[in-house]
Amino acid sequence: MNREEWLKKGFVNEPINEDIDLKVAINKLKKEKNAVILGHYYQKGEIQDIADFVGDSLALAQWAAKTSADIIVVCGVHFMGETAKILCPNKKVLVPDLNAGCSLADSCPADQFEQFVKEHPGYTVISYVNTTAAVKALTDVVVTSTNAKQIVESFPKDEKIIFGPDRNLGDYINSITNRKMLLWDGACHVHEQFSVEKIVELKAQYPDAIVLAHPECKSVVLKLADVIGSTAALLKHAINSSEQRFIVATESGILHEMQKKCPQKTFIPAPPNDSTCACNECSFMRLNSLEKLYNCLKYEYPEIEVDADVAEKAVKPIKKMLDISEKLGL
Ligand code: 13P
Ligand code: SF4
Repeated sequence: MNREEWLKKGFVNEPINEDIDLKVAINKLKKEKNAVILGHYYQKGEIQDIADFVGDSLALAQWAAKTSADIIVVCGVHFMGETAKILCPNKKVLVPDLNAGCSLADSCPADQFEQFVKEHPGYTVISYVNTTAAVKALTDVVVTSTNAKQIVESFPKDEKIIFGPDRNLGDYINSITNRKMLLWDGACHVHEQFSVEKIVELKAQYPDAIVLAHPECKSVVLKLADVIGSTAALLKHAINSSEQRFIVATESGILHEMQKKCPQKTFIPAPPNDSTCACNECSFMRLNSLEKLYNCLKYEYPEIEVDADVAEKAVKPIKKMLDISEKLGL
């Protein structure tokens, strides 16, 4: 075991004996250590299948806030681990691979966002959960795609609001709430990539198909959508509607749970622009694997750490989001 080497790599790269049944071993370690595994819908299917709870980013935060486990393993990206750690400072929060970042969170460096906020005194700052802890520390209330509309609407119509970092989500919320929030110019490299032409072609090929899109997509893609919502909202629609075929414009990991919950229905991933690949994957989300999850539980590494001063500030807007969501029944 060489922690310095792991530190450089961002995950535990110890070889695993071939005889080990990873699923059995992970479940055993989980019990022994009183750990809980939280998985996002964009994780590989094998991770979603072994997780104790699979959900969208709001649900993962809600779950972390109420768990009695000693160790929380967040199978998602770094900001999701940070959110869990901020909510549970006394618990050990692990992510299987620390390199699992987020291009959207990266598009909003805290020092530049701080400057932007300073240049606009009197503005309320609303930040999407896809941000670093340092950006959350500059924020009045955090939102996710599940509750962004309702939280924005909880402010008076004439409230001056800065919304960051996703310009597509911000644009969409402006359009459905009739607001003029000031938007930070950030975006997610996965959701920006969906091809309008290829979605139009798919719609022509499957005229009965319903287009489901995440609000991080560009407005030209959202114009083609029949349903716009968070990963949880899109999944809920797929389960509850009578429609049988769906073109899904969000990270293709969600198709795993959609197909599992609706085995008779057909889900077609919306293709990205510049690739021959049929689906659109978040390379960060895909860094986690069963091997890394096993090693992470075994060695309790890598652990998420958040600076105490930053965490003290960041916890307030996160808890505010959770409180509002609870009141709204979200
Ligand atoms: P959800 O809040 O819908 O889970 O989305 C998280 C995310 O990273 C979208 O790209
Ligand atoms: Fe971030 Fe985009 Fe990956 Fe979601 S899909 S985690 S927003 S890079």
